[in-house]
Amino acid sequence: MTSYITTPIYYVNAQPHLGHAYTTIVADTYNRFRRLCGESVRFQTGTDEHGDKIVEAAEKEGVTPRQYVDSISAIFRQTWPLLDIEADRYIRTTDGDHIAVVQRILQQVYDRGDIYFDTYRGLYCKGCERYLTEKELVDGKCPDHQKAPELIEEENYFFRMSKYRQQLINHIEQHPEFITPERYRNEVLSLLGEPLADLCISRPKSRLTWGIELPFDTNFVTYVWFDALINYLTGLGYPDEGFRAFWSGCEHLIAKDILKPHAVYWPTMLLSLGLPLYKKLHVHGYWNVDDTKMSKSLGNVVRPRALVERYGIDTVRYFLLREMSFGLDSSFTAELIAGRHNSDLANDLGNLFSRTAAMVQKYRHGRVPEPGRQQPEDARLREAAESMLRLYLENMAQFRFHLALQAVWEFIGLANKYIVDNEPWVLAKEERFSVRLDTVLYTLLESLRLLTLVLQPIMPRAAAKMAAGLGLSLTDLSSFERHGHWGGLAAGAALVEGDVLFPRLAKETSVVVEKTAHPAKEKEKGTQAEGTISFEQFQRLDLRVAEITAAERIEGSERLYKLVVRAPEERTVVAGIARYYSAAELVGKKVVIVANLKPVKLMGVLSQGMVLAAREKSTAGERLVLTAVDGDIAAGSGVA
Ligand code: MSP
Repeated sequence: MTSYITTPIYYVNAQPHLGHAYTTIVADTYNRFRRLCGESVRFQTGTDEHGDKIVEAAEKEGVTPRQYVDSISAIFRQTWPLLDIEADRYIRTTDGDHIAVVQRILQQVYDRGDIYFDTYRGLYCKGCERYLTEKELVDGKCPDHQKAPELIEEENYFFRMSKYRQQLINHIEQHPEFITPERYRNEVLSLLGEPLADLCISRPKSRLTWGIELPFDTNFVTYVWFDALINYLTGLGYPDEGFRAFWSGCEHLIAKDILKPHAVYWPTMLLSLGLPLYKKLHVHGYWNVDDTKMSKSLGNVVRPRALVERYGIDTVRYFLLREMSFGLDSSFTAELIAGRHNSDLANDLGNLFSRTAAMVQKYRHGRVPEPGRQQPEDARLREAAESMLRLYLENMAQFRFHLALQAVWEFIGLANKYIVDNEPWVLAKEERFSVRLDTVLYTLLESLRLLTLVLQPIMPRAAAKMAAGLGLSLTDLSSFERHGHWGGLAAGAALVEGDVLFPRLAKETSVVVEKTAHPAKEKEKGTQAEGTISFEQFQRLDLRVAEITAAERIEGSERLYKLVVRAPEERTVVAGIARYYSAAELVGKKVVIVANLKPVKLMGVLSQGMVLAAREKSTAGERLVLTAVDGDIAAGSGVA
């Protein structure tokens, strides 16, 4: 069996962030998992470097597209090893072999009669780099980019996508696991239930030159999506027949934003080429930060490098896989990741490991004891380990990482309880309990060996430390089939003392967000002391007293309220105080707001200002208290 896992190739108009890191960590984890399942594996990621967006970004930086793509692509490439991500190929759409494959495929599809020339009028979204249908718009705007698409009319080449619609529907219906989770399969089927337009696959050179030239008309370059999707074949050496070995095991991984190109454009292209379709498409949801969409303009973009520096590679990988239910959106917060680190990793796993290792050092000179006869409580832990393994294997294979990890942590909980129940420190006091102590310690060590095995794909670094601590090499843990059975640990083997696996994080920290360089701010820096603002700058803040007249929870968010306030005119303000105030408590309160903050949409609600609150942070957690006014004063009064 072979496995070929791919991530989307990322646009180089932005630098890697939490979202890109998530997809790539999932792919790396799955790849490692498949390898342990005994398969020949291949894993590909890379960058998408052609198209309008890239040209625009390069112009903004004042460099050529070539210089621009080289620099950002290198940043992506250098980021992945920081997360212990090891891809077999890092593909770039500007690579020579890729350009040749794209041109070859275009010619093949053209020769088949599946490409024709026509005039097109359509609504084009630059952000998506594709034409949108009227139906896809929300209030006349692209819902993903919040911009009205441009009406474009021009002569172009078209791919007869509609010709393959029915064939694609049949395939999806006959292969229930082709697109998962199911909600996305249903979404695609409903999309295909509507008439399907053909796909415009060229851009005239008068408008765009940064692309792959059409082999049959040099006045045009290839549409970026047609070019990009083909990377999945280029990476396997297509058209060399050897590509088929891995192609039959191809599983694509994407987020919901690029479902249509992967679930409709790509399979119809493959049908036109007469190639088998990929095996599976796995679609995940979006990461938000503190319940808000990540965006440069909001200044809340979380960068992988900063995360690793603060929390460590293993914690970042574990957290992302444990916290997101694959397919649904999730929110990233500093409290959540610090909480998972301290409770799941430092307490549950870290303590199980260090307590066991310390007892084996102390009572058995650091050697794995020979176990005696199993008592019912030992057998129960063994059965729990076996059932954990089953659940883990099943859920990992189905991309339900959070459930796989839940099963693993339930077992860790039982193993910790086993220590408490069996009190090895009491057994160690009397010689007559010596064999019993051997059995208890062996049962714990063997539990840890199995945990090390299953944690390898998720936390390769911590697993390597655990293996070393247990005196094992990674070849002792290289296959679920060979090593995933109780009793693999040899008596007499020597443990190796190592460092603490997961040192506790000292205190709760705020989300590490990127500090956006603000040109205006930079200028001011030279003229005033660092960290101070001028009176003029202070005066630019429009602080006002506002009376809350209504408060309601925003659906899908644990923290946010939509408040209606009078200041003195009525406006809506989104406030992240739902954990600290009930709606009833809020109505009638007079608070202070920043009234001239640029309005933003948060969870679909327009926020026209910000409510001020005092924030207290301690190891016990965080507390927020609203800033109130001391005495009765009219709503709308200025604060200065
Ligand atoms: N270049 C295209 C893909 C071509 S594939 C043949 C593209 N690039 S992208 O840079 O916009 O990357 C989109 C992908 O990045 C998403 O599908 C997802 O894998 C990842 N994510 C970007 N933002 C994300 C979140 N906020 N949350 C989770 N994943 C996100 O589209």
